[in-house]
Amino acid sequence: MTEPVSPAAVTITVRDDASYRVVGPITLLDGEGTAFEVEAGRTVSLCRCGGSATKPFCDSSHRTNGFSSVVRAPRPASGEAG
Ligand code: FES
Repeated sequence: MTEPVSPAAVTITVRDDASYRVVGPITLLDGEGTAFEVEAGRTVSLCRCGGSATKPFCDSSHRTNGFSSVVRAPRPASGEAG
């Protein structure tokens, strides 16, 4: 029997010239498996510029380190999940 698929409970936004903004609930695990829980509706920003001193979290270094990235996800073909 197949488990029902629930609607996505997590939203991830790729911010122009900035971080990934994630709205929970999520469990974020670091490289040692240490868990960081983000409750439903709470937001964290994850660094994607590589410059944060608090990785994996954004510390706003992207504002001063010249990071530039504007991406748009390709639209999936009709019938594909992406
Ligand atoms: S994206 Fe904000 S410090 Fe890297």
